[in-house]
Amino acid sequence: MTRRIFIAGNWKMNLTLSASLELAEGLKKAAAGISNADIAVCPPAVYVQAVAAVLKGTAVGVGAQNVYFEKEGAFTGEISANMLKDIGCRYVILGHSERRNILGESSEQVNLKVKAALAAGLVPIVCVGELLKEREAGTTEDVVRRQFDGSFSGIAAKEMENCVIAYEPVWAIGTGKVATPEQAEEVHAAIRKMIEKNYSKEVAEKVRIQYGGSVNDKNAAEILAKPNVDGALVGGASLKVEPFLGILKSA
Ligand code: 13P
Repeated sequence: MTRRIFIAGNWKMNLTLSASLELAEGLKKAAAGISNADIAVCPPAVYVQAVAAVLKGTAVGVGAQNVYFEKEGAFTGEISANMLKDIGCRYVILGHSERRNILGESSEQVNLKVKAALAAGLVPIVCVGELLKEREAGTTEDVVRRQFDGSFSGIAAKEMENCVIAYEPVWAIGTGKVATPEQAEEVHAAIRKMIEKNYSKEVAEKVRIQYGGSVNDKNAAEILAKPNVDGALVGGASLKVEPFLGILKSA
């Protein structure tokens, strides 16, 4: 079973409109020659539509960084999955550790968002990962299993196949302290076992598991070479064309 490599950029709360468009134009040019991987960028919600317009018809998909789980109505400040779909999104990042830890998002909420995203035809990129103290306490797999079980509760096998999981150890995010390829592979293999246990070996073989946390053009090749690492969710290094392309090239 060969899973297609999937590299996604999470721009987080960065860039201006003009910088977003410039980056999108750069990627549009550069990505024309890349066919060995799926590529996506996830700009801040206010820039998604403009970036999607630039990247329309290219190999670079566009995603959002969050969604609200209700369809429509009196939810001031929120954005629905149908709205994201409507403006050209294909993906949505859900349960990022910054949302879990800074904004108090629970796996139950992530689960509602996964369901809303799938219902709207979006591909959820669901993030899981342990804090440094949890790794040091030897509870990494328990933490990830709780997040996995909670986030995918009630998701059917056919839907699960469409989901992407991003393993992002919190201690590696934005710290320059990337997990070793062995550390990443160990957790990725454990996640694949969780999918197998809850679904089947067939489903487990299909789901792509990205690694995220200080990935750059220098360390990507080693991590992506691991059998259970199917791509990367890239923060800082996705904000400029060259390093992001470098990651794509090492895929
Ligand atoms: P960095 O690549 O900046 O460490 O961020 C990783 C991340 O959180 C991607 O979602």
